[in-house]
Amino acid sequence: MIDAYQASSQDRVNAALERLFIAPAPELARLYEAMRYSVMNGGKRVRPLLAYAACEALGSAPEHANGAACAVELIHAYSLVHDDLPAMDDDDLRRGLPTTHKAYDEACAILAGDGLQSLAFSTLIDPQLTALDAETRLRMVSALALAAGPAGMVGGQAIDLGSVGIKLDQAALEYMHRHKTGALIEASVQLGALASGKATVENLQALNVYARAIGLAFQVQDDILDVESDTETLGKRQGADIARDKPTYPALMGLEQAKHYALELRDQALNALRPFEADAEPLRELARYIVKRRH
Ligand code: IPE
Ligand code: IPE
Ligand code: MG
Ligand code: MG
Ligand code: MG
Repeated sequence: MIDAYQASSQDRVNAALERLFIAPAPELARLYEAMRYSVMNGGKRVRPLLAYAACEALGSAPEHANGAACAVELIHAYSLVHDDLPAMDDDDLRRGLPTTHKAYDEACAILAGDGLQSLAFSTLIDPQLTALDAETRLRMVSALALAAGPAGMVGGQAIDLGSVGIKLDQAALEYMHRHKTGALIEASVQLGALASGKATVENLQALNVYARAIGLAFQVQDDILDVESDTETLGKRQGADIARDKPTYPALMGLEQAKHYALELRDQALNALRPFEADAEPLRELARYIVKRRH
């Protein structure tokens, strides 16, 4: 089920994303091309899938979440472009292709990332992609800004870069992961739910418990794959964390314990979905997929 769901949701978000990279002037062709290169290069689209699935879990058609789905993927793509820069993780391979600063140049990659971040917000509230009332749109902008910013993803990235070669304890590692990766995953679910137009305090709360668990599980699995996958399957360099002495879950608790922890988080996420019925099946499948994925 997840394969077909994944494929159709990927097609939906890719079609919406594709329309965003038309340069408004010839002078901007290279910038727009670099932005397009950074997005339309075969990512798994896990965050858009979560937005769609959350919207569906509340009984609305996934198309209502197109703006949210594009926005979270644009923020994610920008974060990867900057994460790969020489000043950060200094990686040359992403999604099986040269990283943006390798394919273009560093200045262009910095600007492409900046541009993608702004584009995320204008797309989130694009009236062609969402018919929501002004108050809901304001809540969505605020949620995305908080998740992406210094109290969310950017903060997590700052902790990550400040922790190289330092042995973090489990609480500190969890704090870092919840910010650098968890925050945007939580926002993906929340934005999808808000986009349904049917969010209540209760269902948002349950979805948030789900999202917190899979948000952490996603980065635990990312750390695991750095140890036990291979560069070809990953589309990024296997062993990059080990080479750079990054704090990771396998480094902290060993590979087997880390795998066990990922499964425990999956079960926490599934438990949080108990009040939901069949409409939440895609969310359940995504929780299972996140800790089973090989890349
Ligand atoms: C990789 O994210 C970076 C992390 C936050 C762990 P993904 O594994 O979702 O990467 P893509 O989008 O599929 O390339
Ligand atoms: C990236 O974490 C998190 C963000 C980009 C916010 P990683 O540095 O672990 O991601 P990969 O392994 O390079 O994809
Ligand atoms: Mg990093
Ligand atoms: Mg990295
Ligand atoms: Mg990683």
